[in-house]
Amino acid sequence: MAFELPALHYATDALEPHIDKTTMEIHHDKHHQAYVTNLNKALEGKAEASSSIDEIIKNISKFPAAVRNNGGGHYNHSLFWNILGPNKGGEPTGALAEAINSTFGSFADLKTKMQEAGATRFGSGWAWLSVSADGKLQVSSTPNQDNPLMDIAEVKGSPILGIDVWEHAYYLKYQNKRPDYLAAIWNVVNWDAVAELYKKAL
Ligand SMILES: [Fe+2]
Repeated sequence: MAFELPALHYATDALEPHIDKTTMEIHHDKHHQAYVTNLNKALEGKAEASSSIDEIIKNISKFPAAVRNNGGGHYNHSLFWNILGPNKGGEPTGALAEAINSTFGSFADLKTKMQEAGATRFGSGWAWLSVSADGKLQVSSTPNQDNPLMDIAEVKGSPILGIDVWEHAYYLKYQNKRPDYLAAIWNVVNWDAVAELYKKAL
């Protein structure tokens, strides 16, 4: 079965003013769709076309670049839409908040680390909060559409929060001011969704 573009579970203008409607429309309907279309093309006629996206990503070293780029794009964006939401923001709670405090010092320290990871990623890529195999929280960044779940990642783990720092994610509203986008995005992070992924990763 071919991979499909997942529907957004909120309106394209729901993240205004932090992420504008036009950016959401182009980002979801055009960019993410292109990753899905090209992933399906790259896997056409191959047995792996019926694998889950997670299985493909975990074994990405066995695939050609087109699958790494477009499969990564599909996985990363599916996660990204899921961990954002309208009227969100605030702070994480419960076990996730405790883990953040014990690992990074405070929620503010985590934000600083994530913003640094995103701001210093040269060119296109992602900033990540992931859970290592031994259950530790870790911040990292990856180039292009790579992610920590890939077997080729420098810092491996299960991603629970990903911030897209490709220019297509912010350029219409923030232009060259990537740090402003990275500061604003906390207003629309859905911490319930992140906590759910944290629970699953442990
Ligand atoms: Fe993107």
